[in-house]
Amino acid sequence: MAVAGRLQAKVLSVRAGFSLKSALGVTSKHDRKRSTSCFSTSCQNVSTTPMAEFENEPNIHTHNDLYQFSLQNPDRFWGTLARSRLNWFKDFSKVSDCDMKKGHFRWFLDGKLNVAVNCVHRHAEKNGDKIALIWEKDEPGTQEYVTYRQLQVMVNKMANMLRDHGVKKGDRVAIYLPKSPIAVASMLACAQIGAVHSVVFAGFSAEALAGRIMDAKAETVITADQGLRGGKKIELKKTVDNAVALSDCVKRVFVYQRTGADIPMGKLDLSLEKEMEKMSSQCTPEVLDSEDILFMLYTSGSTGKPKGITHSQAGYLLYANVTMKHVFDYKDGEIFGCVADVGWITGHSYVVYGPLSNGATTVLFESTPVYPDPGRYWEMVQRLRLNHIYLAPTSLRMLLKAGDSWVKKYDRSSLRKLGCVGEPLNHEAWEWYYHVVGNGRCDIIDTWWQTETGGICITPRPSSPGAEIKPAMPMRPFFGIEPVLMEQNLQELKGGDAKGALCIRKPWPGIARTIYGDHNRFIDTYFKTFPGLYFTGDGAHRSEEGYYQITGRMDDVLNISGHRLGTAEIEDVIDDYPYTAESAVVGFPHEIKGEGIYAYIVLRDGVTVPENQLSDELKQLVKSKISSFAQPDFIMFAPGLPKTRSGKIMRRVLRKIAANKPDELGDVSTLVDPSVVELLLKKHQEAV
Ligand code: PRX
Repeated sequence: MAVAGRLQAKVLSVRAGFSLKSALGVTSKHDRKRSTSCFSTSCQNVSTTPMAEFENEPNIHTHNDLYQFSLQNPDRFWGTLARSRLNWFKDFSKVSDCDMKKGHFRWFLDGKLNVAVNCVHRHAEKNGDKIALIWEKDEPGTQEYVTYRQLQVMVNKMANMLRDHGVKKGDRVAIYLPKSPIAVASMLACAQIGAVHSVVFAGFSAEALAGRIMDAKAETVITADQGLRGGKKIELKKTVDNAVALSDCVKRVFVYQRTGADIPMGKLDLSLEKEMEKMSSQCTPEVLDSEDILFMLYTSGSTGKPKGITHSQAGYLLYANVTMKHVFDYKDGEIFGCVADVGWITGHSYVVYGPLSNGATTVLFESTPVYPDPGRYWEMVQRLRLNHIYLAPTSLRMLLKAGDSWVKKYDRSSLRKLGCVGEPLNHEAWEWYYHVVGNGRCDIIDTWWQTETGGICITPRPSSPGAEIKPAMPMRPFFGIEPVLMEQNLQELKGGDAKGALCIRKPWPGIARTIYGDHNRFIDTYFKTFPGLYFTGDGAHRSEEGYYQITGRMDDVLNISGHRLGTAEIEDVIDDYPYTAESAVVGFPHEIKGEGIYAYIVLRDGVTVPENQLSDELKQLVKSKISSFAQPDFIMFAPGLPKTRSGKIMRRVLRKIAANKPDELGDVSTLVDPSVVELLLKKHQEAV
């Protein structure tokens, strides 16, 4: 029987479609008061040992003690964790050898390990019947469960298959798959044999895929016949065929049958199921060095060419492991639901490597937040009994717009922690997440990090029960992370309240090692602007208490008459306005002020208030919340915002429209709905 067939036959249980009325009362929107301080009762320095590994350290009693220890003794801190959390073939001889100025990072030197052993085999041997993956397929109620033992068989067979076709240590393998157990097994099979995976989000175009395949010189591609999202079929294999035609390096394409569609197979194509069937379920893992590359992942920079960010075996894995456990207070036996696609770093660290290295049960969400309706996440929470959900603010804002009833009809009592990542979580969305989704009893974990950081760096309460949480900010640095705020003139902004360029002073194990094939670009992008520091590209505000809030990319920071303003700051105010569903603020050239402010605002459904009245009220609101110089010069009530498939707003397009440069819009093909651009242009031209 084919692997996919066997997988389907091994569905352990499906508890679909039952509807429990929430046992807990939900605060109505009118009851929701804006939260200005902490929800928890006790303060940050509660006296619990945050990590078992440091229980016997005489001077560590509180979160803060351990945080200081992690900064002052990074080698002892990370070395202890590396030995306790990971299994090694050979112990490392030195914990770190790093130089921020040169962008040189080496962790756990001479150590030998295998990531697949750490993520699968060690758990399969101890607890093989434990569920590793819950595949939440596109159609609600059709989920499939994969145990650690089953995952081990998949990984071993796939690793043997890759080896059998000549793939070896260091070779790059492009993965273009829907979120599925096969996608996870493909990543881990690469890890097992030391091949470097490059997962490309299965929503990218053929050209984008070809660019990534060629940059990595990948000879092997793993894909599927079709994807399935929101009830729609996505022609993955066709896209791969077009990408392969544009590339000159691909030698083989393994094709997994997701839908079973009758698709043409060319001379490079191989059936993944048939190839796997031939293979043994035993496979010897490659002995890898701590610093061998585990994967590369492309991300956008300020220039057009995407950067292939590379991550290491040991340092990356340890950082994903420790952050997953302590940021979300993950407890053994819980079900962790990170809804990000495996094509993004969030999927790598918090769907695959973090959860599996902790022996957790992780959910693979294949669908969309609005399929078949805006209750999908919460219906899934009820059906699968999720304890953690980790999602993007953009989806929260979309769901908020659809109304509370979609949440309230499902039982969310299993939820303990509500995470989010990727962009600032504005106040209104935070309050909604906290009060409506979480019924006021779950911590909101706003996490700041980047593809380059490998894992979460700023987050409200890593493993510190009872610590206060302030709305709409990721707040505190994780262990080992020392944020620094810098001024453009290279002066450090010391002390409390300040706004500046967000940098990180000390190396941590999860930091990226290079940009594939271009180490100079790596150094120039991250280590030159503020010598000796890692520059994140983001701006941040630090409060009097020392809590961090991200003000947006530095390239999204506006300078209005010499006043520095984060677009996110203005959006936060606009989003708080009761009629706003979501908004995006960009700068545009202004004759007198240098830069003016242009606000695109999507209204909630059914708003009938005249636009000029809304405009006046919004300007007043911004004036009262920030300052008169922060008032938008132009407000467009937009039919929608141009978003990429990962949910990011394509601000470049909004800036060009605002600047009246319709001929310079550039490529909009990666937008979910490119037609929205035409509508925005038309509206803009009618108004000016
Ligand atoms: O601008 C920050 C924003 O997302 C950027 C990193 O994007 P990417 O590499 O695609 O990784 C996204 C998922 C880790 C950052 O430079 N960002 C990420 N998290 C937050 C955020 N902005 C505000 N608040 C956050 N919590």
